[in-house]
Amino acid sequence: MKVFERAEDLLHIHSELGSQKLAFIPTMGALHQGHLSLVRAAQDMGHKTIVSIFVNPLQFNNSEDLLKYPRTLEHDLALLEAQGVDFVFTPTNEEMYPTTTADVVVDLGLLDSRFEGAFRPGHFHGVVQVVYRLFKYVNPSEVFFGQKDLQQCLVIEQLIEQVFPHIKMHRIPTMREESGLAMSSRNVRLSSESMLKAAEISKSLKDIATRKEEFCEAVVWHAQRLTQMGFEVEYLSCVSMPWMDALECDHFSKEPNGSNGPQNAVIFAGSLNGVRLIDNWVF
Ligand code: PAF
Repeated sequence: MKVFERAEDLLHIHSELGSQKLAFIPTMGALHQGHLSLVRAAQDMGHKTIVSIFVNPLQFNNSEDLLKYPRTLEHDLALLEAQGVDFVFTPTNEEMYPTTTADVVVDLGLLDSRFEGAFRPGHFHGVVQVVYRLFKYVNPSEVFFGQKDLQQCLVIEQLIEQVFPHIKMHRIPTMREESGLAMSSRNVRLSSESMLKAAEISKSLKDIATRKEEFCEAVVWHAQRLTQMGFEVEYLSCVSMPWMDALECDHFSKEPNGSNGPQNAVIFAGSLNGVRLIDNWVF
């Protein structure tokens, strides 16, 4: 496994690919099985893999959150080596944000101002800028993102459609603990009691997704249930993709659209004892 810090060193990678494609998995480190499942998905398709590890300051709207973000580089590198990753890119801030690179402009429609966009102003601007730079430096043919960050996936799909149409995007289903809790780098900040409680999120999402015509009532009921358990619920909604329009109570379509894949999702964000958690259930 080769580790690079400088973007210019990545240029050599392409001569080492042979007939294989380069699959890219961008991360902010603090890796867990969810990240490794993205790597495995790329490897199973026969691609060479490159993982980036960079905690992107531009996407944190809260400086305390940035400070508290777990940083476990040595452990991350060991996990990636054991997983058979080919290349790792660990750039510095200066490498990612040289004063000479202009920001990219991507039309995100309402994705930028609703749900995660509303609760984390500027977040998707930061995500788009860093992923734009990473895509330019790495120049992959395929990219792999976790569906746990569903709205981020939809944002990246816009970046790809508008700026990198040659890149193929893969949205990989969320890895969960046995309890149903979505794997996340932030879970290390949960006590064992909070871990148990946090598993209730996915139960609520799954239940709402099966409620057909009664989903509106189910959303209200589950929001109250989670609040009573100690969650500070930011949002719990049923939305359609790709723009995350809230589903009207009388416009619920349970059947996924066969050719275009699943169309709807139940989405959640909220905090438990100061730890912000997000999850979704796509159907
Ligand atoms: O999902 C993440 O870890 C980050 O938002 C990403 C895509 C690596 C950009 O910093």
